[in-house]
Amino acid sequence: MSQTSILGRRAFLGATSSLLMAQPAQQSEAKSHGMIVHSRKPEDLEMPIDGFLQAITPIDLFYVRSHHYTPQVDLESYSLKVSGEVDKPLAISLKDLKKLPRVELVGVMECAGNGRSFYTPKMPGLQWTHGGVGNARWAGVRLVDVLKRAGIRATGKHIVFDGADVSVGTMPKFQRSIPVKKGLDPDTMLAFEMNGQPLPQSHGAPLRVVVPGWGGDCWVKWLTGIQVLDREFEGFFMKTGYRHPGKGVPPGTAVDPAQMKPVESVRVKSVIATPKDNMILAQGASRIAGAAWSGEVPLAKVEVSTDAGRSWAAARLTSSNGRWGWQTWDFAWNAVPGSYKVMARATDASGYTQPMEQEWNPSGYLWNVIQTVKVDVLPLASTAYRSSCLGCHNEDLIKGQKLTRAQWEREVDKMVRWGAQVPADQKANLLDFLAARYKP
Ligand code: HEC
Repeated sequence: MSQTSILGRRAFLGATSSLLMAQPAQQSEAKSHGMIVHSRKPEDLEMPIDGFLQAITPIDLFYVRSHHYTPQVDLESYSLKVSGEVDKPLAISLKDLKKLPRVELVGVMECAGNGRSFYTPKMPGLQWTHGGVGNARWAGVRLVDVLKRAGIRATGKHIVFDGADVSVGTMPKFQRSIPVKKGLDPDTMLAFEMNGQPLPQSHGAPLRVVVPGWGGDCWVKWLTGIQVLDREFEGFFMKTGYRHPGKGVPPGTAVDPAQMKPVESVRVKSVIATPKDNMILAQGASRIAGAAWSGEVPLAKVEVSTDAGRSWAAARLTSSNGRWGWQTWDFAWNAVPGSYKVMARATDASGYTQPMEQEWNPSGYLWNVIQTVKVDVLPLASTAYRSSCLGCHNEDLIKGQKLTRAQWEREVDKMVRWGAQVPADQKANLLDFLAARYKP
């Protein structure tokens, strides 16, 4: 997101909220509060970076990805149909479904295209930054229990999921299939609760598939149909969309979908929530923190570098979200003045570590390049700058200036007249600092 000044953003928010007041309140707009809005209809919302500090993502911050408009499923007439390679095709009401043994797990769900905006050259698709991912506590029933009840046959190879969402225009329906092996995994679920609440509409009420470790595209929402097939499903979102060449290809290469495989597991990844890019920190104790996760291969460790990847030190995992959840992590940094490139990298149990460089692929899936955050650490004296100058606006207003020390003095005096508080004994220091950094 662009770093508009706090003042500017407030003024902007003020203007939009009064605009919204004039219209009937819309649910999706209320829900997108604080989120990065990629699209309101279909609803595509990204979690802001602070979300990576939370062990469990609150529903309000949980990313939303919808290929079609959000349907309203009528609970009275709702039933889940199970058909295909089964002995007893079923239509189960929600009430009957809930009679099956209840299971719960914490699971990270990441959009296969999360991080797409970082690829060069660019490709079409939602331009996610970091937040096309979230970590929730899901509750529901095991898919395997439903499949057994329907008498799944040995001929069943793939399970295709269908939701109540209706295609926009002549766009193909959003349907995905997973191999039977993953479908029979006791952790693969049909969830009706998220973080202890009934599944919200944007997240697939009344029922969504939970495929731990796999891309969000398999976590079909508003689930109404399960069909067991004797081969992989042949719809658009299996044969054309959500395919990956398996390894990186030279940037810009057009790869025939037939040469690619459906995206399944996500890859090990970590995100730094704090400090933020271009932050100015005071010297001394500082905290580097974020979240890390993995897919089919479990997360093993997270390390942090403050010297652009030359040396690495272990971060401490601070949550216990089980096998499929993300883990928050923390690193205590004794920062001395200077300019830094802070990085975090996660490694999975097979020893695979996040790469330093992009492995490009045509649709921009599975981005997991090590994130770099640039920070400046200032001597304590210069922290006068932070406390005196970054209260009403952020650095953007200051950064663009190219002034002499005398001009800076007039500028600072003006700010003091406007309410900035600059302790007398720190003014000279502050002017030295400004004049050295933002000079003609
Ligand atoms: C009490 C609030 C406040 C504080 C504290 C403050 N400023 Fe400002 N500053 C403003 C406002 C408001 C503007 C925008 C004025 C405009 O756009 O017309 C501004 C604008 C600026 C600009 C843009 C040029 C200009 O004069 O409009 C610079 C540079 C700047 N401030 C530097 C500083 C520095 C350096 C400090 C610390 C000594 C500081 N500010 C502290 C309120 C503040």
